Amino acid sequence: MQSIPRRDLISSGLAFTAGFLATRPAWARAVTFHEGNMAGGDVEVGLAVPPREQLLFDFGWKFVLGDGNDPIKDLGFGFGQSDFSKTGEFVFAKAGFDDSKWRPLHLPHDWAIELPFVHDDAGSGDSQLRSHGYKPLGRRYPETSVGWYRREFDVPASDRGRRIWIEFDGAFRDVQAFVNGCFIGSNENGYMPFRFDLSDFLSYGAKNYIAVRVDARYGDGWFYEGAGIYRHVWLSKMNALHLGRWESVVRSSLSDGSATLTLGTTVENEGETAEEAYVTWQILNASGQTVATAEASAQKIDVDGSTRFSANTHLSNPALWSVDEPHLYTAIVAVSVNGTVGDVERVTFGVRSVQFDAQKGFFLNGKSLKVQGTCNHQDHAGVGVALPDRLQYFRLGVLQQMGCNAVRTAHNMPAPEWVEACDRMGIMVMCETRQLSSNRSGIAQLEAMVKRYRNSPSVIIWSIGNEENQLQGPMAEQGASIATTMVRRCHELDPTRMVSAAVNADNRKGISDAVDLIGFNYHLDFPDAFHKDNPKRPIFGSETSSAVSTRGEYTTDRQHNVVDSYHGVYELPELWWKFYGEREWAAGGFAWTGFDYRGEPTPFGWPSVSSNFGIVDLCGFPKDYFYYYKAWWRPEPSLHLFPHWNWHGREGNEIPVWVYSNLDEVELLVNGKSVGIQKVPHLGHIEWKVKYELGVIEARGSRDGTVIFIEKRETTGEPASIRLTADRTEIDADGEDIAVLQVEVLDLKGRPVPTANHKIGFTVDGDGVLIGLGNGNPNCQESDKGPRRSLFNGLAQVIVQSTMEPGSIQIEAVKVDSGGPELTPARVLISTRHVQPRPAVPSVRKG
Ligand code: GAL
Repeated sequence: MQSIPRRDLISSGLAFTAGFLATRPAWARAVTFHEGNMAGGDVEVGLAVPPREQLLFDFGWKFVLGDGNDPIKDLGFGFGQSDFSKTGEFVFAKAGFDDSKWRPLHLPHDWAIELPFVHDDAGSGDSQLRSHGYKPLGRRYPETSVGWYRREFDVPASDRGRRIWIEFDGAFRDVQAFVNGCFIGSNENGYMPFRFDLSDFLSYGAKNYIAVRVDARYGDGWFYEGAGIYRHVWLSKMNALHLGRWESVVRSSLSDGSATLTLGTTVENEGETAEEAYVTWQILNASGQTVATAEASAQKIDVDGSTRFSANTHLSNPALWSVDEPHLYTAIVAVSVNGTVGDVERVTFGVRSVQFDAQKGFFLNGKSLKVQGTCNHQDHAGVGVALPDRLQYFRLGVLQQMGCNAVRTAHNMPAPEWVEACDRMGIMVMCETRQLSSNRSGIAQLEAMVKRYRNSPSVIIWSIGNEENQLQGPMAEQGASIATTMVRRCHELDPTRMVSAAVNADNRKGISDAVDLIGFNYHLDFPDAFHKDNPKRPIFGSETSSAVSTRGEYTTDRQHNVVDSYHGVYELPELWWKFYGEREWAAGGFAWTGFDYRGEPTPFGWPSVSSNFGIVDLCGFPKDYFYYYKAWWRPEPSLHLFPHWNWHGREGNEIPVWVYSNLDEVELLVNGKSVGIQKVPHLGHIEWKVKYELGVIEARGSRDGTVIFIEKRETTGEPASIRLTADRTEIDADGEDIAVLQVEVLDLKGRPVPTANHKIGFTVDGDGVLIGLGNGNPNCQESDKGPRRSLFNGLAQVIVQSTMEPGSIQIEAVKVDSGGPELTPARVLISTRHVQPRPAVPSVRKG
């Protein structure tokens, strides 16, 4: 450790820590989300060994499938009795083990998405393969349910004496990890972050070997869960005296325009001698200026002991975090011994107040606001559950465009980048744990979630679980006891937030007795009576709607497993939103779901492999319901007219024509002739029946008697060309950043053909790779990895990722299906700019 004068710890802004802790990708550091000073290297103080390093451990792994039954096909693991008999003998995690036939890859990785679909409807209910998207995982599919990851890595001699941890943000599902021939630990659930202390097992100044066995035979859910190390992995290096993991907490309370910050942290001592240490806090605003400081005087930390430090400070006129302006602050927390910084970390937080009122609903910063939420699983087209960080922002951006201001992390602890994106984009979070239980693992999952995310201003509700029918019914007594223990633990770790659960029942017993906030799943018949009988208990819709629709489909067709976009199945958006949107006491709610997800192919089974519940499809392409929400959730005038007007062969037939709009009235014209003007009912929609004729339909929306919005649907001509549109044409050359491309087919006049279903082949050359394809069709069983994919109702998606070489990525799209007229191919160039990649464990493979 190098010595820095104590006064400088505060006055110099400790800005050097930013360099050591630049754990975000460069683009996230550069993007302004009302938070400054994210970039690394702001001020260099030239320390040879920083107090703490957090190195991305994603690059340069090798992978092979093992076997859940046959040890011979599973690297010999478990062949006899003696695997764990001696330490240091696991050959697959030692030098000389031959992994030359293993496949090189980078994490995050989901091997389930690469597996073929298997039509297997054996079993019943949630245990069926259909729930998991017909991917062959489980005890009946041992050959495809176990994966091994391996890599070597250097540890410099100078690291001797530091504490070195490998940290997994999450893997699916059961992990056994081995380093240098030694078993170092296991984890048995699919969503919780976990870590292992490697310090004693490493070879310093030499090569080290790690092997990780991931066993996805057991599952946690009834939806697609993926398989593999699907979130980031980190190598963390710190001194023996260090800050406790997730122990630094910043709480703010607002009064008369100023905020009191209550600061706390824990210092742990894994060294050889007791130490006297003190802690300083430096609070930075969005421009990186120091706006407050605090210090806690020295205390002793015994060997193998830990000591809590706390302090207070104030912010006058703080910039508040809100859904419109998500201002963030950063606390730099440093622990020092004799003027020497021992450890330092940065905590992002926001200042805001949240209130759920049983009579008046929800308030953010004292202002009434409806929770306009969606529930979401975590998978996306093309990549399964292994999402590049940028995709989290992309997905939340799609939801935000329809006015969604809150997400529920159904039904598990989310990836850190999802919550961070919510903090930075101004989206509130109902953060849900996976296992509703007060057993050891249930409490461990809950604790990890609350500790990990309690500084995030976006989190407004902790959820201890979802639809526990036993615990609301025959086991209601146990349900109340289990929930009481869980709620108490949440309050101990975070007294500032309310705890809830998503309950598909009347909420009159069981878990509901213990929670602060009553969440109703569906059952619009229950909340009124509950509110009347329990006027002091705040209520919201924890899960609503489940409206099923297939993007671009307008007739329900059981032969083809598609559901129409008008009425769908279950609660229409306007049914639930009229309910929660119009009751003052209701805080709002969360629609099931924002995005389609793999698994639960409701209401059909095979060959459907994904759900139809999304307001947007698996790629994020809006379905028509999207525009209902947009009309009633966003303030600006909007109007959406559907369906498309390509109904060749249905001339003279009646076609329902609907409009979602928040204007006063809308006139519909068919080929220039008015078919009438209708007033838009509050929170409703309008519809006509129109005899189909080739041409154009046009909706003219007016407010206060003036037409302010015109939308048309035209019959397009024959398909003529392909169009590729990238969400960004320049991305970072950091091996992580992505561009998301939309693929369409146009007619000769350049109009997108809404019914095009051509198969397109993609080639990706240059300094990038194709990482996934999708089209949002719940029945599509084409490969997510390409290189070919059909459009579905006019659209497909391509996701490309940069390498670490700056330059450009060339993407070409060519029609590959036979028959029909040729289409002019499309080409797009994405440039990849040089950036300082975030600190990573060096790897030989850079691609
Ligand atoms: C709910 C459940 C969700 C999903 C949904 C489908 O009961 O909480 O996970 O299964 O039904 O409608």
